[in-house]
Amino acid sequence: MAVFYSWRHVGLCTLLWAVVSAVCVWGRPAAFGQDFRVTWSNSHLKQIGTTIQLTLDRDSGCGFASYKKYLFGRISMKIKLVAGDSAGTVTAFYMNSDTDSVRDELDFEFLGNRTGQPYTVQTNIYIHGQGNREQRVNLWFDPSADFHTYTILWTHRQIVFKVDNVPIRVYKNNEARGIPYPKMQAMGVFSTLWEADNWATRGGLEKIDWSKAPFYAYYKDFDIEGCPVPGPANCPSNPRNWWEGPAYQSLNAMEARMYRWVRVNHMIYDYCQDRPRFPVTPPECH
Ligand SMILES: *[C@@H]1O[C@H](CO)[C@@H](O)[C@H](O)[C@H]1NC(C)=O
Repeated sequence: MAVFYSWRHVGLCTLLWAVVSAVCVWGRPAAFGQDFRVTWSNSHLKQIGTTIQLTLDRDSGCGFASYKKYLFGRISMKIKLVAGDSAGTVTAFYMNSDTDSVRDELDFEFLGNRTGQPYTVQTNIYIHGQGNREQRVNLWFDPSADFHTYTILWTHRQIVFKVDNVPIRVYKNNEARGIPYPKMQAMGVFSTLWEADNWATRGGLEKIDWSKAPFYAYYKDFDIEGCPVPGPANCPSNPRNWWEGPAYQSLNAMEARMYRWVRVNHMIYDYCQDRPRFPVTPPECH
């Protein structure tokens, strides 16, 4: 793979840790290739300036992943989704512990649509191998017209999925009530572009129009701030990590307002409300 330049941020100054023993966040320009590797179909990934282009055609989709795993922090990237007729395509950005049966995973999945129809963002959360926590939101802008920022914030208190800083999903740590929360396993950062026309668009009714292929998605401004694992052993539990600060323990008033706005105006599916599927409402929904 060619050298892909981006910014790399590491939550802690590993070298200075013993000396200053304080939170020390810094960023430095790094090669995409130093932080990320191609996981699937090298020939379908390409660098254009500082942007990574993912391609889906009849032969293959493709994907990349971080070399390291992280335990708590904030991961964000700017993504420009497949333009035009994207029905049947799925672009994903997620964190995954890669541990088979006890997998933890935090998912953004962007479900394509016919030209002019709204893109759907599906989020899901797997904890200790159990998923089935889908929510879907129709985006309030055309995500293929420009880059937008997609963020996963993961702290001891809450997990927040954000679109351009607007919270679209919050999963609180309610372990005190016996509700599972991911906190034991580090997760890697992954991205893929693939074909899923058996389910993605209108439940699989809309198929990929291969005459419109190849399909392209674009990624840039990778920002990982978190505790790398392996890394300083005391990092993940350090209460002085900035993402564990008061501002990130719950939504502020403005964020809470935006989150309500999304739920009222743009949420089209919430597993918590799906009675036929879950006759007994999952405990975290209360
Ligand atoms: C696609 O568009 C249809 C019609 O507007 C909408 O019902 C659906 O939620 C959109 N998204 C997907 C992924 O099907």
